[in-house]
Amino acid sequence: MADVVTTTPPSQAKPARLDPHRLRADFPILATLNRFGKPLIYLDSAATSLKPLTVIEAVDGYNREYSANIHRGIYEMAERATASYEETRVKVARLINAPHPREIVFVRNATEAINLVAYSWGRHNIGRGDSIVLTEMEHHANLVPWQLLVQEKDGDLEFVPVTDDGLLALEVYEALLHLRPKLVAFTHVSNMLGTINPVRQLTEMAHAAGALVLIDGAQAVPHVPVDVQEIGADFYVFSGHKMLGPTGSGALWARAELLEAMPPFMAGGDMIREVHLRRSDWNEIPYKFEAGTPDISAQIGMGAAADYLMSIGMDAARDYEQELVRYALDVLPREVPGIELYGPAAEYRGGVVSFNLPGIHPHDVAQILDRSGICVRAGHHCTMPLHERFDLAATARASFNVYTVPEEIDALAAGLRDVVRIFNR
Ligand SMILES: Cc1ncc(COP(=O)(O)O)c(C=O)c1O
Repeated sequence: MADVVTTTPPSQAKPARLDPHRLRADFPILATLNRFGKPLIYLDSAATSLKPLTVIEAVDGYNREYSANIHRGIYEMAERATASYEETRVKVARLINAPHPREIVFVRNATEAINLVAYSWGRHNIGRGDSIVLTEMEHHANLVPWQLLVQEKDGDLEFVPVTDDGLLALEVYEALLHLRPKLVAFTHVSNMLGTINPVRQLTEMAHAAGALVLIDGAQAVPHVPVDVQEIGADFYVFSGHKMLGPTGSGALWARAELLEAMPPFMAGGDMIREVHLRRSDWNEIPYKFEAGTPDISAQIGMGAAADYLMSIGMDAARDYEQELVRYALDVLPREVPGIELYGPAAEYRGGVVSFNLPGIHPHDVAQILDRSGICVRAGHHCTMPLHERFDLAATARASFNVYTVPEEIDALAAGLRDVVRIFNR
């Protein structure tokens, strides 16, 4: 296991201005055409991000050159696979400034990480009448696992409401903390409203009330500097595929003493120290939580993605994406008649803009945009309760990443004008 992470976290790196046009050359898919012969205008990065060449090559390199299993073989190729896999742990720890790589548990995605905590920590710490505080803006991944837990344990869920401006109602949060919840779980950045929550403040308030804190960082790690030590969280989860890495990769960070005390989630090979016919004992952390052969190439690709993000600098990524969102919030209402935008002002949000055109279903919007090569998401974006809160059946969503350029937002505005024209003919 590698040493304590001592390098400067990305959040303290000197911000350098990001050049998106130069970065675009790193993403081979951006040079492709769709079936209508149009260049790709990818505005669905909140669903999954595009992958740079270094990530593609890292995955390919493993499959071509050293595709051995990890933590088993003692021949050179297997040792190389193990080393590469474990290097990812160091890189990911550095990206979020985790105190030690052994606090990084590899999972397939943020959903699996939350389920791991709900099953392992939750089933041993939540009992009858205990409450968990969530928010109305959670992705289903940070809602349904807690529903299952409290149903089984006869506990309660409480919800921090979302204001009309798309922010969390902090005075209600404060009141809910008087219930002395065991856990507070909230998203760092909303995948529908784009809201960047004040995670440090929310965490401090929860700790003062005696609760542990789980933060869903699926939409944060790819877009804003994340420093888990500065935030002070107990659990922090994210997916590799949204942060320029491959599908099938992801991470749970948790404080070592929590992981040490938690029982295993899945059982089988690799997570044990000793096995007898009637009992076993567990491997050290993080391996206790990594049963069976993982998606080795995907995790290695996630390491390359972490390198890529750190080479850009997360302050620069955040600043650039905020510029994009400011531009979109300015251009879309001016250029697209009747468009309704949801979510807070640019200074409180990441690169996500959800919207509706009056009287036009978002699925029709997305389908017509597709003909112009523009990819947006349409539906409830796995946030049905949040859509209910705003009395919406569905929305269309444009979401950005470091490779998005303002010209693509102009193309979106032009595409939306076409949609309005087609429907008003
Ligand atoms: C805020 C948030 N949390 C969790 C998830 C779940 O991510 P995954 O499907 O990679 O597990 C998503 C995916 O869209 C998300 O946006």
